[in-house]
Amino acid sequence: MLKEEHIKKINQYKTPFYYYDLQILQKTLDVVKAESYKYNYHVHYAFKANTNSRIIDLIQKNGLGADCVSGNEVKCAIENNFDSSKVVFAGVGKSDDEINYALEKNIFCFNCESLQELDVINELAAKQHKLASIALRINPNVDAHTHKYITTGLEENKFGINPYEFETVIEKLKHLPNLKLIGLHFHIGSQITDLSPFKKLCSRVNEINTYFLNKGFDLPIINVGGGVGINYHEPDKHAIIDFAAYFKVFNNFIELRKNQELHFELGRAIVAQCGSLISKVLYIKNGINTNFAILDAGMTELIRPALYQAFHVIENISSKEKNTIKYDVVGPICESSDCFGKAVELPETKRSDIIAIRSAGAYGEVMASRYNLRDEVRSYFSE
Ligand code: LLP
Repeated sequence: MLKEEHIKKINQYKTPFYYYDLQILQKTLDVVKAESYKYNYHVHYAFKANTNSRIIDLIQKNGLGADCVSGNEVKCAIENNFDSSKVVFAGVGKSDDEINYALEKNIFCFNCESLQELDVINELAAKQHKLASIALRINPNVDAHTHKYITTGLEENKFGINPYEFETVIEKLKHLPNLKLIGLHFHIGSQITDLSPFKKLCSRVNEINTYFLNKGFDLPIINVGGGVGINYHEPDKHAIIDFAAYFKVFNNFIELRKNQELHFELGRAIVAQCGSLISKVLYIKNGINTNFAILDAGMTELIRPALYQAFHVIENISSKEKNTIKYDVVGPICESSDCFGKAVELPETKRSDIIAIRSAGAYGEVMASRYNLRDEVRSYFSE
């Protein structure tokens, strides 16, 4: 349950809104830094998870790099004082304008996802008289055992360059003088709660790293992406994931050469637990088989349950009732998928009670929409 000090703050504001506990975020960052610096690993924050300005400001002050997937994310990172030499740019469909902007800003590295993209970046870099540093985003064909919409490293996925294309890439690079290949990039998926897919990733990385060395490419950068999952069921007990165990897997299983740096792109594990979506109960409606608690927030504010059948803890933070009842907790949007949870056990709930939907700091506010001409969602902070 959210702590009393937060509930007091929350009660001052008009719902719906995101509430961020910046202390949790800082504590999480402290652990990320301590555990990654042990091995001299480099962590880039995956901007796609949350671009709220207070959140990225705190992350920037903690010295992380930025992992971006659009020109606007690159712009947002640079305008918020992230060092351009710590900005990486991935994405299967980078437009010419986006590439040009990133070239102008001299970002650290483009993570290239297709053969054709190599030609395009080379051509645009030539026009700007620049040498673009690139890493090859490789599809390692490792199953992340997560929801199919957030699996990215299987052959069937659109992401990355496949191993059967390596020969062609190597041949091609000889004729692309404005590209400098500096690394290999991987990302197998998101919300991965069992560490074994990361072990598998390490062994694929080792094979591919050796392959490129044998072909004459001694690449200084290995980037293993992000994807480590959080505990959506116990947000208070497991507010911070076991980063020690996560980084240790890489330390144990990846074989880096002396001159090689290991980079990560973490999103969810950094920001998910610091955010809650706060909403008010508009109506209680008794259906034939079920009771509905109808909120003033819906899939327009948090789409994860509708899109991925994602689970989030739902709490009634204003009720003192002992008696509990099961509710389908739904939003006001004209879609049946606009449901945050079915048969959720809550203390007996009334109109105007305040509901917190937890672990919503990642892929919540950033994925909000204005469908049904809803107002833009607001945000407030613990301090
Ligand atoms: N690097 C790349 C290339 C990525 O595509 C992603 C996430 C990340 C890093 C960060 O992954 P994380 O550490 O956050 O798992 N909207 C979905 C998640 C989509 C993830 C997309 N890529 C959700 O709400 O679960």
